[in-house]
Amino acid sequence: MPGPGFDTIVNLAKKRGFVFQASEIYGGLRSAYDYGPLGVALLRNVKAAWWRSMVQLRDDVVGLDSAIIQSPQVWEASGHVSQFNDPLVECATCHARHRLDKLDDMDRCPTCGSSGTFTEARDFNLMFRTHMGPVAGDGNVVYLRPETAQGIFTNFENVRRTSRRKLPFGIAQLGKSFRNEITPGQFVFRTREFEQMEMEFFTHPDEADRWFDYWVAERREWYLELGMRAANLRLREHDAAELAHYAVGTYDVEYRFPWGWDELEGIANRTDFDLRCHSERSGRDLRYFDQVAGRRFYPYVIEPAAGATRAAFAFLIDAYHEEVVRGMTRTVLRLDTRLAPIKVAVLPLSKKPRLLEVTERVASLLRPVWDIEVDVTQAIGRRYRRQDEVGTPYCVTVDFDTLDDGAVTVRDRDTMVQDRIGVDSLQGYLADRLADPQHGGRKK
Ligand code: GAP
Repeated sequence: MPGPGFDTIVNLAKKRGFVFQASEIYGGLRSAYDYGPLGVALLRNVKAAWWRSMVQLRDDVVGLDSAIIQSPQVWEASGHVSQFNDPLVECATCHARHRLDKLDDMDRCPTCGSSGTFTEARDFNLMFRTHMGPVAGDGNVVYLRPETAQGIFTNFENVRRTSRRKLPFGIAQLGKSFRNEITPGQFVFRTREFEQMEMEFFTHPDEADRWFDYWVAERREWYLELGMRAANLRLREHDAAELAHYAVGTYDVEYRFPWGWDELEGIANRTDFDLRCHSERSGRDLRYFDQVAGRRFYPYVIEPAAGATRAAFAFLIDAYHEEVVRGMTRTVLRLDTRLAPIKVAVLPLSKKPRLLEVTERVASLLRPVWDIEVDVTQAIGRRYRRQDEVGTPYCVTVDFDTLDDGAVTVRDRDTMVQDRIGVDSLQGYLADRLADPQHGGRKK
């Protein structure tokens, strides 16, 4: 089944307050976005699902939150200062700048359509540079991190020692990264400020291939388990020319975006590149001491590196459905209950004070447990549609019968089946459906 069009998703995201253009009242800052009430909830849920699967449910991975601004030596040692470049070309006619490796037609400018007149490609470093302290000078240049990974490598020994880890083990981190992309675009897919979810898994070099295969499979499975459709996911191996300067092998998990297959996440074998570079540069020995073998060596690193903002966008696209119900088109986001921004909407049938009073009682039962919304405006059918459109799994309607029988109507987003449930058992009823004891997700 073809997915929704790009404009459909962007319009929904803007109209319903998932994502706004940054600095919109000043005309907008290109490729920068703010996440509205529903967007921030979706994004937080994506990050929480990742953390739960990568850290909480595992014995062999621990968490970290390192600074965005590190010593510039980190980026010199990691190779980012010298090698984190994209090939930049400029159109001689309209002066638009493009990434050479992303041009479909080397003889035609995608901005103005003129042919054959690009400048020689030059290396453009993607890191944002700024200055630390009140005086801007060469001596105090710092960079906004372009990946969260380096904060993990520089803390390898701190974490290993304090958490008493033995190989193999991983360190996970999520947070903002910044890249001065030449061609940001496709809404929140490629932006200059974005969030990453990265894990560096340190292993004995002899076991690196096995762990590489393991993490490629595991990371694909993560998207599937959160409800992404298998037909929209694929794995693609990088060819040698495409590999990052630190990697000997990489697989991308790709999603079928409205414009075609594109990267969601990369799983790379970074070998001992980073620990070795930081050891040599800093003079600190970051080798691991194997007590059984009685020798020191640099562990290899397998790195699953995902984009949180990009994943949230893909989940939104994947969840989007339009279907005809009794002659009317309904838009429904079939988001996994763990990702849905609002879990339960509480809807009084009318604004009569007696109903509003019971509605508040029901809402106060649910509010401490789930993200809920109370919606009192417009006809009930329209309120159902509004909740469907943002993926709310359950709507609880308080009607006049509730005043007599103490029961409410619970409507399921996907099946639209309605159950009459006593308010006393409502929490349990919803808990059964919203929380799976194994995965924290919906019971199948
Ligand atoms: N530490 C390895 C690393 O950063 P990457 O493939 O450059 O690898 C990992 O980035 C993930 O971060 C990508 O798969 C993508 O999901 C996300 N990402 C990278 N650049 C991005 C951008 N400009 N905007 C949004 N997400 C981005």
